[in-house]
Amino acid sequence: MILNLFCGDVAFVAQGKQHASMRIPVLRPLLPQANKVLPYLKRIDASRYYSNYGPLVLELEERLAAKFGLPTQAVTTVANATQGLTAALMSLEVPQGMFCAMPAWTFIATSQAARLAGLKPWFFDVAAETWALDPDAVERALKHAPGPVGAVIPVLPFGQPIDIAGWERFRERTGIHVLIDAAAGFDSIEPCDLPCVVSLHATKSLGCGEGGVFLCRDTALVRRVRNFTVFGFEGTRSALRIGGNSKMSEYTAAVGLAALDEWEITRADFVGRGMAYRRAFDGHNQVCFPDGFGQKWIAATCVVALPDGTAPLVETVLHEAGIEARHWWGSGAHEHPANADCPVQPVPNTWRLAQSSIGLPFWRDLPNEAIELVARTTMTALTQRI
Ligand SMILES: Cc1ncc(COP(=O)(O)O)c(C=O)c1O
Repeated sequence: MILNLFCGDVAFVAQGKQHASMRIPVLRPLLPQANKVLPYLKRIDASRYYSNYGPLVLELEERLAAKFGLPTQAVTTVANATQGLTAALMSLEVPQGMFCAMPAWTFIATSQAARLAGLKPWFFDVAAETWALDPDAVERALKHAPGPVGAVIPVLPFGQPIDIAGWERFRERTGIHVLIDAAAGFDSIEPCDLPCVVSLHATKSLGCGEGGVFLCRDTALVRRVRNFTVFGFEGTRSALRIGGNSKMSEYTAAVGLAALDEWEITRADFVGRGMAYRRAFDGHNQVCFPDGFGQKWIAATCVVALPDGTAPLVETVLHEAGIEARHWWGSGAHEHPANADCPVQPVPNTWRLAQSSIGLPFWRDLPNEAIELVARTTMTALTQRI
């Protein structure tokens, strides 16, 4: 059977097991269209305010705060989540040279942000069930730490909610700073007492190109993060602390505001695609979705768990069918040459996830036929292995 899948303006043709003439890409971000951004751009023309916390950035912060149920002072925008994590660690004043515990199963940005803040990553395994760092496991390991530990960065794996209460207790018991990397957690992060960073990159569920937002109920810390993003200025043009330039521009805020205007539609689109995947794999217990994905929360990637060791085979078979899949986090952040000098706890679960999880094509207007083709091809690959 020949399947013609029209994905936007691209026709994908898949015929049996033959190579498809075009690929189904793993993602195709869809940000607000120009006509939806235009009213905001006109406001920039009128105000002649282009950056430095202009009216659109302030409005975006107010609306983001309302979305997260926080006061406006509990939110500050940043140029992107990587800069936001660095600004947060610098503003927490974690002494340079200390260790920063984090999961090995994360994107390289988590560890790069720590390094930029002068900290050394200490990599931990994640729990097999949750794919996330376990507060009790980190606490138990502290007595064997390679040196003083100044901070921990738990990560929401591909947006999946984590044990926030457990991390609040960890901070209380140990006195160690906890900074949540919720890069993909726009839809899933619950406002809490811990500082947290969300990415607004084009590949995230609420995208504005490049952007991020720092959230924290400690408004004094939010103020310090904001000051960090403006050269360490604190109300005057005199820098009182080290700072950088990681502000969001008015143009980015224009896209962010237009994206917020259509957030309910965006979310419904992603939920629809998530549920379509669940239906397509229904009855195939070899493919597992993150708990609540598409049901309670959504993200802009769809990463599924496969039987141990089968991800490379599935990726090859999908590729042959013209379907792009991705190992978003490769073998883990600890495997990057940039982190070769960092201590690593034993990471069997991370290793297993690298071999048994895969990012499937996922985007707002991904056609049902494409989802069904991906599911069929994945199941064929898993049958082949027997
Ligand atoms: C876990 C994690 N942390 C941080 C980042 C960095 O976000 P940004 O691209 O906004 O800097 C990403 C990006 O995908 C991520 O997945």
